[in-house]
Amino acid sequence: MPGRTPPRLSECRFLQPFSGKAISPPPVWLMRQAGRYLPEYREIREKAGGFLDLCYTPTLAAEVTLQPIRRFGFDAAILFSDILVVPHALGQKVEFKEGEGPVLEPIRQAADLSRLDQSRTTDKFAKVYETVARVRDGLPRGTALIGFCGAPWTVATYVVAGHGTTDQADARLWAYRDPEGFSRLIDILTTTSIEYLSGQILAGADVVQIFDTWAGALPTNELERWVITPTRKIVTELRSRHPEVPVIGFPKGIGVHVPHYVEETGVDGIGCDTTMPMPELRDRIAELGVVMQGNLDPLLLVAGGVELERRVCEIISEAGDAPFIFNLGHGIVPQTPPSHVARLVELVRQGSSG
Ligand code: CP3
Repeated sequence: MPGRTPPRLSECRFLQPFSGKAISPPPVWLMRQAGRYLPEYREIREKAGGFLDLCYTPTLAAEVTLQPIRRFGFDAAILFSDILVVPHALGQKVEFKEGEGPVLEPIRQAADLSRLDQSRTTDKFAKVYETVARVRDGLPRGTALIGFCGAPWTVATYVVAGHGTTDQADARLWAYRDPEGFSRLIDILTTTSIEYLSGQILAGADVVQIFDTWAGALPTNELERWVITPTRKIVTELRSRHPEVPVIGFPKGIGVHVPHYVEETGVDGIGCDTTMPMPELRDRIAELGVVMQGNLDPLLLVAGGVELERRVCEIISEAGDAPFIFNLGHGIVPQTPPSHVARLVELVRQGSSG
């Protein structure tokens, strides 16, 4: 595997906000920018067989990572993989069923934790690192590469329930009934995520993002133990191993706790969901030296039209002169017309130039 190319700060627009500089127009990428809304993705997906086969086949995973870069010219690519690769690599049975989403063999109690084995991850993670290296080689100079993992709490909600849930009740209940046992699961996911992100960085990722989609399901006092503490461990360890690589946190749904999350975890960037009031948060986040990222409603990207145009301009003006990266407030949905994505990129690039 080729060694990590040092980040080319001066050539890379995406990295500039992380050195405290607001740039105009802001860099733009979109969560789930590779995926089913693109016909060229659906074609490769069919060829690959299962979704996990696609994640573990470096030539194909690298190809789908690069597709949205070729089509739209985003400032950053995001590695094509999934947050559930971590429990799968640890030995949990994970399947992606057509029209049903992920199905896992649930781990419901401390006694089941013996099914997870940290020494087993090597081969599967090696495939992901090979994808990172291939993407790095295939990217235009100046386009950043984002690596990622799911936050331990969000991954745990799938590990415990065995599928996606609306209220994350199974993980919350285990955490209340047996906090010691549940914290062993969180610890396994935390140490594995550190190794996994560090491996992605060594293979060529310039930035990493921690997706905590279900952070907002926790009551305030639980947020500290299951979201903030594990995230701080990941950020602290990555910072000591790779001080130059920014870490973006995306704790969806935590609302007023965002500044606390930013301060306590030490992230370099904060992904804002659609409910976060960016104008109110802006100065506080900028004072902490942290980049704000967000937060267009993915459904507005489906709708398109003048409402999309209006909101894109509004978001850019809400960011003001704070270091900012344009994104959605959550992932692209499959019914998104690719032409609306092209229009969005055009709007971001024009919107702030005049
Ligand atoms: O952003 C990107 O383009 C990179 C790839 C990426 C995927 N999933 C590909 C994917 C990333 C960063 C993720 C993150 C992810 N995966 C999250 C966190 C962010 C979020 O969206 O909340 C979560 C919770 C998952 C778990 C997951 N993966 C679910 C619930 C599903 C089923 C729902 C769905 O959209 O199908 C997936 C499958 C998945 N992951 C697909 C893609 C492109 C679709 C699978 C397919 O092609 O059939």
